[in-house]
Amino acid sequence: MKIVLFGKNGQLGWEFQRILPLWGEIICLDREELDLCNLHEIQDILKELKPDLVVNASAYTEVDQAETETDKAMKINALAPGLMAEITRKSDAVLIHYSTDYVFDGRINRPYKEDDSTNPLNMYGKSKSAGEENIKQAGGAYLILRTSWVYSMRGNSFVNKVLGWARKNETLRIVGDQISNPTWSRALAETTNLILAEYQPNLFEAIRERRGVYHLAGSGYASRYEWAKQILACDPNRTEQWVRTLEPVSSDEFPTPAARPLFSALDCSKFEKTFHFSLPDWKESLQAAMSE
Ligand SMILES: NC(=O)c1ccc[n+]([C@@H]2O[C@H](COP(=O)([O-])OP(=O)(O)OC[C@H]3O[C@@H](n4cnc5c(N)ncnc54)[C@H](OP(=O)(O)O)[C@@H]3O)[C@@H](O)[C@H]2O)c1
Repeated sequence: MKIVLFGKNGQLGWEFQRILPLWGEIICLDREELDLCNLHEIQDILKELKPDLVVNASAYTEVDQAETETDKAMKINALAPGLMAEITRKSDAVLIHYSTDYVFDGRINRPYKEDDSTNPLNMYGKSKSAGEENIKQAGGAYLILRTSWVYSMRGNSFVNKVLGWARKNETLRIVGDQISNPTWSRALAETTNLILAEYQPNLFEAIRERRGVYHLAGSGYASRYEWAKQILACDPNRTEQWVRTLEPVSSDEFPTPAARPLFSALDCSKFEKTFHFSLPDWKESLQAAMSE
């Protein structure tokens, strides 16, 4: 199987870069090899490489910056995935794409199901939602996996931010009214990989039959405050922490350019019913990620 992976250096893409070579030839692309804003290049490269599977782990993920860099966010999150879907449909290839809980407005009081109405509150969510629509319109064999609060132990994730703040401050004030599913990038990549394992060598037919939107995120949900509390508890170098008080605060105390949904937990039962896998409980994954 020939695979093209977009976004190889991102939280999720980095994990895929390790796993996917198991399945054959993999061509990993990032901004240097291909800037997704250059839409014609996506077309050229996919037509030239003719992959059997495209995994799109790339995205414009700067939620606040997207409010002003709207065109760029739309190109990367909406037009580029649409083009990937059109090309994969024409060549009978599979597209696996990721979307976000931020397509929802967070105003219902239970975890969101796939067919709940979308109503993004910010430009990032709007661009991701438009990407979903473009993929659906193109048709073909695609999976749109909506996930949420993705973290890794590399780079500037929420987990690493909390660990850094805890080493510099005696009091941490963390938003307590935003709730969703913390999702370890490795668990997300590995669970996606189980689909590839399950349906070889008939991946195309299997995905075409099951194409659609699925929620796939860490099991259970938490507020950012509860997440931070658990991060501090799992810290293997706890003695380095200065923090003495962790305080839940309202989102109103940290105004941001982009509005965020308050309750955007995802109900992942459709994925579990269809593929018979699920992600571990978010606390278990966090413990595993932090004890590496
Ligand atoms: N992070 C979250 O909390 C979260 C929550 C819900 C859903 N998601 C979704 O999950 C997926 C994976 O997210 P992630 O956290 O792994 O993202 P990430 O770490 O921000 O990585 C995004 C990747 O996209 C690449 N990229 C951005 N602009 C590009 C461009 N113009 N041309 C080529 N590549 C470009 C980045 O390249 P560079 O390394 O060069 O910047 C990076 O490799 C995305 O679809 C995201 O929308 C994420």
